[in-house]
Amino acid sequence: MRFAIIPGDGIGKEVTAEAVKVLAAVERTFGRRFEYEHLPWSADHFLQTGVTIPSNGYDHLRTFDAIFIGALGDPRVPDNRHARDILLGTRFELDLYVNYRPIKLLDERLCPLKGRTPHDVNFTVFRENTEGLYVSIGGRFKAGTDDEIAIQEELNTYKGVHRIVRYAFEFAKTHGLTKVCMADKSNAMTDGHALWQRVFRQLATEYSGIDATHYYIDALAMYMVLDPGQFQVIVTNNLFGDIITDLGATFQGGLGMAASGNIHPGKTSMFEPVHGSAPKFAGKNIANPIGAISSAALMLETLGLHPEAAAIEAAVLKAVRERQVTHDAGGTLGTREAGDFIAAAVTR
Ligand code: NAD
Ligand code: IPM
Ligand code: MN
Repeated sequence: MRFAIIPGDGIGKEVTAEAVKVLAAVERTFGRRFEYEHLPWSADHFLQTGVTIPSNGYDHLRTFDAIFIGALGDPRVPDNRHARDILLGTRFELDLYVNYRPIKLLDERLCPLKGRTPHDVNFTVFRENTEGLYVSIGGRFKAGTDDEIAIQEELNTYKGVHRIVRYAFEFAKTHGLTKVCMADKSNAMTDGHALWQRVFRQLATEYSGIDATHYYIDALAMYMVLDPGQFQVIVTNNLFGDIITDLGATFQGGLGMAASGNIHPGKTSMFEPVHGSAPKFAGKNIANPIGAISSAALMLETLGLHPEAAAIEAAVLKAVRERQVTHDAGGTLGTREAGDFIAAAVTR
């Protein structure tokens, strides 16, 4: 297996080092050989060279079995141009239309919701990852004046909506789940989200064993807090999925805990923690590496290395249960020490 590793900015660099450390423990334990190519694409690299991603960058990424990204975002690049090219660009150019974000509570003590246990918080969000409000269609006219007009269009295509909704239903079916909930804002966005309504209703008829329900996104946010146990699979658009997965991360114990995959089935896919570069935490050895390490587990799982992925998941669970974690998760360890514990648990 060959992996492209893009540590990126801020704490992205630190948590990526721990994910790679745990992958190395998997190699030793399972007698496998992984090859890593570290790519320097980041804010530092952009500020030094003027290059966000080289012209053959996406083609190069396609040559790997998978891509791992730490995080991108730096206050010195206020328009976020490098993140747009490296992170969003990879999602778009490699057509990684499934943003797979499991919301799984590992230990009751980590959940800020009163009385909720791992039994109540165990669902998956599928976020459409290649269109919606993220397509950068629009522009500004008379920018910087009192007459400024700013337009940012939301794109919804039949193909785009259909394939993510299909994926959510298929995931439910193959995992023995019985509920899929679609969230949109079709009461206000009566054109774009009417398409979501039509496609969801249409596909639901093909899955007789699955209860297909709908909430408007505002109500869904409320029900996530009030009664998370009702959800098994949620499918939604790009922006709404971004927002509700930060909310979901808090149920898991915070942004440092949440993992994600950016997937195109059968093609080179990309894995990254849900959190960002947290500039205030950077370089202090305090960031929680579990979101990144669990994203590495999702990467192996997606590549069919199931025992290897399960070994990482078990090691993470052990670290959480024994409080061998960073401060945000109720432990006393630094980023590196938390990574050391999980790597050692994999080896055992
Ligand atoms: P953030 O996720 O970087 O941090 C928000 C807060 O969450 C932090 O202050 C911290 O309290 C907590 N947190 C996040 N990661 C943590 C970890 N590993 N361990 C412990 N606590 C953690 O979000 P932000 O502050 O809104 O964004 C900072 C920068 O990151 C911005 O430039 C933003 O655009 C970027 N960003 C990038 C990605 C990505 O690369 N996928 C995701 C989100 C934000
Ligand atoms: C995420 C991030 C990105 C997004 C940002 C950094 C553009 O928040 O991966 O969740 O909005 O998709
Ligand atoms: Mn986000």
